Amino acid sequence: MSKYPSGKRKKVIPKKTGIRREIDQDPNTFVLRLLLNAAPYYVSGSIIAQKLKMSRVAVWSRIDKLRKAGLTIEASQNLGYRLAAEPNNFNASLIRAWFDQIGNNCNVFVYDNTDSTNAEAERLLTNGANAPFAVLANQQAHGRGRRGRKWFSPAGGNLYLSLGFRPDVQALKLRNFTLWQGINICKFLRDFTGSDKIKVKWPNDIYYEDKKIAGMLTEASIDCERIKTLIFGIGLNINAPANNYPKKLKRSLMTIQSLMGNQIRLHELSAMIIKIALKSYIQTKNGESENLLIDQWQGLDAFYGKKVKVTTSNETVLGRAEGINIEGHFKVKLRNGRFKYFASVEDLEKI
Ligand code: BTN
Repeated sequence: MSKYPSGKRKKVIPKKTGIRREIDQDPNTFVLRLLLNAAPYYVSGSIIAQKLKMSRVAVWSRIDKLRKAGLTIEASQNLGYRLAAEPNNFNASLIRAWFDQIGNNCNVFVYDNTDSTNAEAERLLTNGANAPFAVLANQQAHGRGRRGRKWFSPAGGNLYLSLGFRPDVQALKLRNFTLWQGINICKFLRDFTGSDKIKVKWPNDIYYEDKKIAGMLTEASIDCERIKTLIFGIGLNINAPANNYPKKLKRSLMTIQSLMGNQIRLHELSAMIIKIALKSYIQTKNGESENLLIDQWQGLDAFYGKKVKVTTSNETVLGRAEGINIEGHFKVKLRNGRFKYFASVEDLEKI
């Protein structure tokens, strides 16, 4: 549970702004919106009843159902109800309520356990789902990593997210999509944690010092040079305790919780990451990222100016990392002063 501060004293009547006036198909989301709007304070049962056009007894029974679904909702006879803590597993109604709170507008599919959220997004796109949409899971049995690797995905409050898009644009337009996502998510995580030790590692990782916090995997289907469907997947280590990982991985990863020293509100952080990722997609599609890419990457690059060893399928190259070029390729200055550019690598390490 990630707790909200205690808010017993002040009784707050929720603002009308930010709450859609109509009651949508999911009354749970509606109740949670009211509670989130007022958190950490209380919302009176009669206000909820009035807005939901139901009796106070019916409100009580709905609150009871939300509690059974894992939400900590405190009740006070005089003040009403307040959301005291978020569950550490995804709750579809709460994530939708957060979407509304921060102005996210896309469909969301929540799974307790799936093979891979990227695979799930692929199936949804194939079956005609409206895009953009978000797929979230509490754990993945076959999380996909880059270059056919596995992304170990334990339960315990991490983010396993895929966004599905139908861009229908020239492939060239989105060539730096993942790098731009990395820049924006890295910047956001720096603000969120207050740490400028969070950096990007080319091409698709986010690190804290030498430990990995997040990995990204973009998959696309292309037809006649046009990107028809695009899936952006990100695994972000948020709350899952080290013991949920195999020994070998424990040493090389970092979670937001251990960085900040307290359990993180999974739904709030995840909704914000989705907002950043949706915005980054639009910016790339509109060509807004192109001129900013190289400089912004350089400011966040974990490897910039460092001696590196680059391994590809047919060579190993030593040199100094010098960021990226406009195509998003990794730039290395060789000992003879020449530059070499890599579109993809098998391995990249500091030496
Ligand atoms: C990497 O660093 O190799 C990329 C890892 C990407 C993992 C995420 S978790 C959510 C989404 N679903 C997947 O199967 N993979 C991505």
